[in-house]
Amino acid sequence: REPLRDAAERTGRTVGVALAPHLLDDPAYRSVAEREFSLVVAENAMKWDSTEPNRGTFTWGGADEVAQFAADNDAELYGHTLVWHSQLPSWVSAITDPDDLRTAMTEHVSAVAGRYAGDVTAWDVVNEAFEGDGTRRRSVFQERLGDGYIEDAFRAARAADPDARLCINDYSTDGINAKSTAIYELVRDFLARGVPIDCVGFQSHLIVGQVPSSMEANLRRFSDLGIDVRITELDIRTTTPPTPAALERQAADYRTVVEACLAVTRCDGVTLWGVSDANSWIPGVFPGQGAALLWDEDYATKPAYTAVADAL
Ligand code: XIL
Repeated sequence: REPLRDAAERTGRTVGVALAPHLLDDPAYRSVAEREFSLVVAENAMKWDSTEPNRGTFTWGGADEVAQFAADNDAELYGHTLVWHSQLPSWVSAITDPDDLRTAMTEHVSAVAGRYAGDVTAWDVVNEAFEGDGTRRRSVFQERLGDGYIEDAFRAARAADPDARLCINDYSTDGINAKSTAIYELVRDFLARGVPIDCVGFQSHLIVGQVPSSMEANLRRFSDLGIDVRITELDIRTTTPPTPAALERQAADYRTVVEACLAVTRCDGVTLWGVSDANSWIPGVFPGQGAALLWDEDYATKPAYTAVADAL
């Protein structure tokens, strides 16, 4: 049947995938990535530990490969991520002086967003800044710089790439809850004060049978603020090996998520956090779980693929 990207394009949406450059040498992986997706994001290659492992020394190999893949395949390039407490080199967490840390942060943002300016359509400027109860996560940035680090990062990103849409991204914010409400209030505050922000990413690392019932309403309340929303890291995991019933339920869950996005005017699409179950991050982080994507370990399409294709 037609590629997912063609179906998505009819409603002005993109369907994206997180890419690992080393897997592009695998023909099965590569051909699915080339055929199906109209947006790509680096699964790891644009993170701080990949791009600036030592202060002021930048390594662009993997990030450039993903950028080149986007250009070669007429896909959007989505940037992930500039400021995050994880996959952060130890030299950053070792900085104790607030002014020095702020300088390191804004220099990092300027260098990375600057390199891909004109190529990246949107950046996850800040990732995972909130706790489940809606308070700020006590990251090195929060602890040393206070609440203002988020807007400092957004202003630095705008200066480095005036054309990229600037997003804040998080997990377990898919439904209406304390954490998503904290981000909602941050967006309202930024808009009221003229701090640059254009979009919110909802990671949506979900569990089969547990799609939040308020997902569409949540996306809509952000869209109603006049910003864009996107499902940025979708996967729906289950116990492995999956039963046929679990795979059918997973398909229904994928359909629910895609339909929630399509029902919301400013939801610009859905990004899958990987191509196939053979290389998803889930089993490594959630032992005994996996089978979370649209292609199985042998790159055969799963019921979830058909459900997404039907929903688009
Ligand atoms: C994950 C990658 O998929 C893994 O390969 C890596 O080991 C850890 O990070 N939230 C995010 C993503 O914003 O960057 C994470 O990606 C998954 C959770």
